[in-house]
Amino acid sequence: MVSQVMGWIDERFPLTKVWREHLAEYYAPKNFNFWYYFGSLALLVLVMQIITGIFLTMNYKPDARFAFASVEYIMRDVDFGWLIRYMHSTGASMFFVVVYLHMMRGILYGSYRKPRELLWILGMAIYLCLMGEAFFGYLLPWGQMSYWGAQVIVSLVDAISPEVALWIRGDYVISDATLNRFFAFHVIALPLILLVLVFLHIIALHQVGSNNPDGIEIKDHKDPVSHIPLDGIPFHPYYTV
Ligand code: HEM
Repeated sequence: MVSQVMGWIDERFPLTKVWREHLAEYYAPKNFNFWYYFGSLALLVLVMQIITGIFLTMNYKPDARFAFASVEYIMRDVDFGWLIRYMHSTGASMFFVVVYLHMMRGILYGSYRKPRELLWILGMAIYLCLMGEAFFGYLLPWGQMSYWGAQVIVSLVDAISPEVALWIRGDYVISDATLNRFFAFHVIALPLILLVLVFLHIIALHQVGSNNPDGIEIKDHKDPVSHIPLDGIPFHPYYTV
């Protein structure tokens, strides 16, 4: 029954092919260390932020009159609202901790060098997006810290071009218009861009293969018969476990 269903799907969609090429028969260096956890952890935090974000959006109101009160409502009245909000806000900080360790590993082992330049550039794009995402999210509780935080950062742009600052705020001051557009950026625009960039990051990684602490290119030493990299092990089950 299972193989029949799989056969039906495989004729119409490359499910087994993708599973084999990207997991079961994807060969990764056998000498990964502690610093190689952080890519998967960043992926885990991304998923957690999206899930907790969806539940926050169910009770949050992006309106200058109601935003602050709706966050208080989430904290006091919504079942486990406090937990969901704190998972999301602490998760945002942890995202940066994890991503900085992930980037530091890349610098430590020279993973930004040939052939991984594009993988690194995609990572930098993710990092910029992530900073934007955190900045837009910080305005949403519409408290003093949110308001003045937005004021400071938009003023940086204002020093270069008042027209662009006006365009970002949608008003002459941080206002309801600003809150509404920051909500749109935070909840849909940037998460979509982030997901696409992370997808491309993984595709680029699988094209060139992971680096490793010893800097050995495993694709350079293959078994002459099976063409399996001699210094590699299958990603599944060794790294999935
Ligand atoms: C949402 C954020 C990110 C996610 C989900 C993510 C995901 C991953 C994953 C799953 C891997 C493979 C496992 C590993 O090597 O740790 C990886 C590798 C890599 N990532 Fe990221 N990444 C993110 C951000 C970044 C950033 C900001 C940079 C750098 C600017 C970056 C640069 C790299 C590099 C160079 C590698 C290959 C490292 C090597 O093979 O030595 N990534 N990423």
